Amino acid sequence: MKYAFAKRVRHLQSSAVRDILKVVNQGNVLSFAGGLPDDELFPVEAIEDSFRRALSKGKKAMQYGETEGYYPLREVIIERMKKKQISEFTPNHVLLTTGSQQAIDLFSRVMIGPGDVIFTEEPTYLAALQVFQSYEAKIVPIRCDEFGMDFEDLQEKVKAYRPKVVYVVPTFSNPTGRVWSFERREALVRLAHRQNFVIFEDDPYGDIQYTPGAIRQWRHLMMEHMSSIRVRSLRRPCLHFEQGGLSALIRSFV
Ligand SMILES: Cc1ncc(COP(=O)(O)O)c(C=O)c1O
Repeated sequence: MKYAFAKRVRHLQSSAVRDILKVVNQGNVLSFAGGLPDDELFPVEAIEDSFRRALSKGKKAMQYGETEGYYPLREVIIERMKKKQISEFTPNHVLLTTGSQQAIDLFSRVMIGPGDVIFTEEPTYLAALQVFQSYEAKIVPIRCDEFGMDFEDLQEKVKAYRPKVVYVVPTFSNPTGRVWSFERREALVRLAHRQNFVIFEDDPYGDIQYTPGAIRQWRHLMMEHMSSIRVRSLRRPCLHFEQGGLSALIRSFV
């Protein structure tokens, strides 16, 4: 039978991430191509204990909950943020997802339509590119150096393409591992204000730094920017919005 796939998926190609994972699971291969944690480091006992404690409180733990995610966990996330001196948000600004990947997809579903221009670092995270492609975005890569996006290239392309979104992984970028300088972050935020585009910050690795001080301070920058959306990861990540943004997103799904 010849399947009539949706028009928007006809141009999709095989997933590079899937291809990488196929090789990884062969057992005799130690692959550095995917960002896989060492199995030995998974806190199996702590996870078992958490499940046991949650289930011991009754069957409610198995029930559906709020779309935005379990409220007490959203409170914990806000408390964590406060410890990092990010204090202007409440649990109502947080949406829990089952991975940054889901958050990238949610964001794209409501923000990106055919032909919308999205800028990315060059190179950038493969699986984000795949999501943007699946929503038929026009992806424009921006040249990068060790401090972040090359501003000359960025400004020229902003004039030429008028982007809707700039997707960045400014802290331990994937795949380069680079950390953007304060100046480049600030310049991006200013440009976003002037040129009216959304900064979509993907930050799954910000918590694994050995010298947190400096980067912590820089993180505030993107969050202060009114049109920035931030995906954080606990390896169970969340989407984070400005006031009103979350309810707008949820309304768009209901
Ligand atoms: C930059 C970036 N964003 C998102 C993800 C996806 O993270 P998750 O496993 O939480 O879905 C990864 C995983 O490698 C990543 O490197």
